[in-house]
Amino acid sequence: MRIVSGIQPTGNLHLGNYLGAIRNWVRMQDENAAKGGDTLFFLADLHAITVYNDPAELTANTREMAAALLAAGVDPDKAILFNQARVPAHAELAWLLFCTARIGWLNRMTQFKEKSGKNREGASIGLYAYPVLQAADVLLYGTTHVPVGEDQKQHLELARDIATKFNTDFGTELFVLPEPTIPPAAARIMSLRDGSAKMSKSDPSDASRINLADDDDTIAQKIRKAKTDPEPLPATAAELDGRPEAKNLVAIYAALNDESVDQVLADFAGQGFGAFKPALAERLVETLRPIRTRFLELRSDTTALDRILEQGAARARALAQPRLDGAYAALGLCTSRG
Ligand code: TYM
Repeated sequence: MRIVSGIQPTGNLHLGNYLGAIRNWVRMQDENAAKGGDTLFFLADLHAITVYNDPAELTANTREMAAALLAAGVDPDKAILFNQARVPAHAELAWLLFCTARIGWLNRMTQFKEKSGKNREGASIGLYAYPVLQAADVLLYGTTHVPVGEDQKQHLELARDIATKFNTDFGTELFVLPEPTIPPAAARIMSLRDGSAKMSKSDPSDASRINLADDDDTIAQKIRKAKTDPEPLPATAAELDGRPEAKNLVAIYAALNDESVDQVLADFAGQGFGAFKPALAERLVETLRPIRTRFLELRSDTTALDRILEQGAARARALAQPRLDGAYAALGLCTSRG
């Protein structure tokens, strides 16, 4: 298996990133290292600049996100950790793939529609073309598995379409079709204030998300204030339909406990949120406290963080080069490398 995934270094890691993706990264990294496969995780800083980012903040956030990933269990002895800007092959392959990707395919990307909102004409070309860079990120390494949350599924389908068209147009088998690996219980963690919106870094309300750096009291308070409904919890998952906030809190609990939603409901059926919320807050605090402690230790040592990212980038550059050269050659482009 070759495993690749990325995260944007904009602000802090939140519970949606952690349960939807990062926890799976760590599990897959451990399994893959035991089998001798390569695993690459990167900070998608080239994706972050598709909307305006203050340069000094971007630099600081890149290091902070590296610290957060290490604190959450990404291990540089088992996985290659780097930031995209240190590996120019990502941007280079993206250009080659822009010429394979079709405008009609990009027009169907729901995330662009969400992110550009009403101001589509004023969005950057980068924001529109972003899924092609994402395709380059995974195709560059012959990736077989991509651990992500549900919201990235459409981007990976696009990567498969681009790979198939490139391989067909140029009579090659250069690109491998990547498979998304999406966790069953926590594929889509929702906002604590609105069960119909995804938990997100870009939500202006901090109360909508649990950040990995939140202290115990803040976590407990956010759960206490989380939106719910007056009904008690039902006995089966199916009965949570139409109750998005309740469904979200139960899904978070299930993911933290590695249980199914039905198993959680077997314990809490008939009880109200007055009983459920404190239990959920306790599980969250227990899970996040050790990660936060490690994060606070790691983030101040910027020299060590830069060294890890640089060492990871050197390994990533070596793994990327053959497939990048293969893409130039397949297209008939003349390069100095022959
Ligand atoms: P990003 O930075 O928005 O999110 C990183 C990961 O966290 C997952 N995630 C969630 N999962 C469940 N519930 C949520 N509320 C939630 N919010 C975020 C995302 O699905 C993702 O797995 N475009 C990507 C970064 C990227 C990438 C790639 C990923 C760039 N190139 C190549 C995989 C492969 C992004 O913006 O993720």
